[in-house]
Amino acid sequence: MGDTDQSAAELRRAIDELHLHLAAGDPQHDQLLERAIIASCSGITIADARLPDMPLIYTNPAFTQITGYTVAEVLGRNCRFLHRGEGDQPGLDEVRRAMREQRECAVTLRNYRKDGSLFWNELYLAPIHDDGGILTHFIGIQNDVTSRVELEEAREFFFQVASHDLKSPLHAIRLAAGTFGAIAPVGTTVDERLLGVLETIAKRTREMQGIIDDYLDLQTLDAGRMKMSSAPLALNRLFEAVLESNAEYAASKRIEVHQECPAEIPPVQADDRKLTQVAQNLISNAIKFSPSDSRVAVRISVDDQRARVEVSDEGPGLTEDDLRKVFGKFSRLSNKPTAGEKSSGLGLHICKRLMEMQGGEIGVVNNSDQGATFWITLPLA
Ligand SMILES: Cc1cc2nc3c(=O)[nH]c(=O)nc-3n(C[C@H](O)[C@H](O)[C@H](O)COP(=O)(O)O)c2cc1C
Repeated sequence: MGDTDQSAAELRRAIDELHLHLAAGDPQHDQLLERAIIASCSGITIADARLPDMPLIYTNPAFTQITGYTVAEVLGRNCRFLHRGEGDQPGLDEVRRAMREQRECAVTLRNYRKDGSLFWNELYLAPIHDDGGILTHFIGIQNDVTSRVELEEAREFFFQVASHDLKSPLHAIRLAAGTFGAIAPVGTTVDERLLGVLETIAKRTREMQGIIDDYLDLQTLDAGRMKMSSAPLALNRLFEAVLESNAEYAASKRIEVHQECPAEIPPVQADDRKLTQVAQNLISNAIKFSPSDSRVAVRISVDDQRARVEVSDEGPGLTEDDLRKVFGKFSRLSNKPTAGEKSSGLGLHICKRLMEMQGGEIGVVNNSDQGATFWITLPLA
């Protein structure tokens, strides 16, 4: 449940509670209710649904504080004066639908204060019916969420900058470092130490690109903009290719990687690039946390409906605490990469979300002897 849904549910409960008190008809309760509304730091507005154009018949002091409009300036008017002609907003379409269908809704709107300044208004709207079930009023609850929205906008802006302004120079540095050694004048050799420095530059920029890619993926996932495709895929070939692309990395730590797979396996239904990303994460993680001279094994198995891939390492395994939070956002685990590799801490969280979007699952167990096994399952095509 999102923040808005949650606060809407809480408000709904509070209103139901108030209805109960009102029904009791006790003047003390009515007084308490009025004081609560006056003391509220959320704007509270009531419109009469039986009058033409649904005018406001009540606004509390917080509404004046948020919008700058006094009670006298707004009573008898429809609350649309707050959008100053910007009536074409997705949130307002939802308001119109909810009002037509006489149901509650929660939206965030672009509104304007009396002094003309913009503010983001989190509006919760609910119908009020009389004993005969006839709609009589709407109650609106307004919260100024401008600082939260501005923070989200800043976050979005940062990710835009990260994607366009940081990615391309990093790519250029990596390319330059890669080609530098190859362009020494004919007949000269490049100092080994210089090659080592260039390799470090290339490795570190690759890591930085990986971190940026993870942040961008998270942003895309959170915004619900991650595009997925689905096609029958040969799991063994996909994992073989990923193992192959990690062969040099594994060799640099003297780690032996091998794959066990039945001779015939039916294809799985998945997104090629996203599954490759998951496989890359699991295999590079296994290498990252493995000591030198150990083994990483990939095992593929199939039952009648699903395929399962296990990636096992001989590293230190995960603590109880790490097992609980390993797929969480920004989870810093207690284990450290064995060669100082850097990452965003987002990789496994992204894997989990990508697997779920493909109808798959992901998990981890500690091996009975040594190390951990990360596993995924996917539906067969
Ligand atoms: C009780 C109540 C409170 C409302 N509060 C707001 C508000 O704070 N901001 C806003 O933009 N619209 C608010 N609205 C919605 C507008 O008054 C209006 O109903 C909506 O824009 C649809 O009308 P339109 O099609 O003329 O735009 C509220 C409506 C009601 C009934």
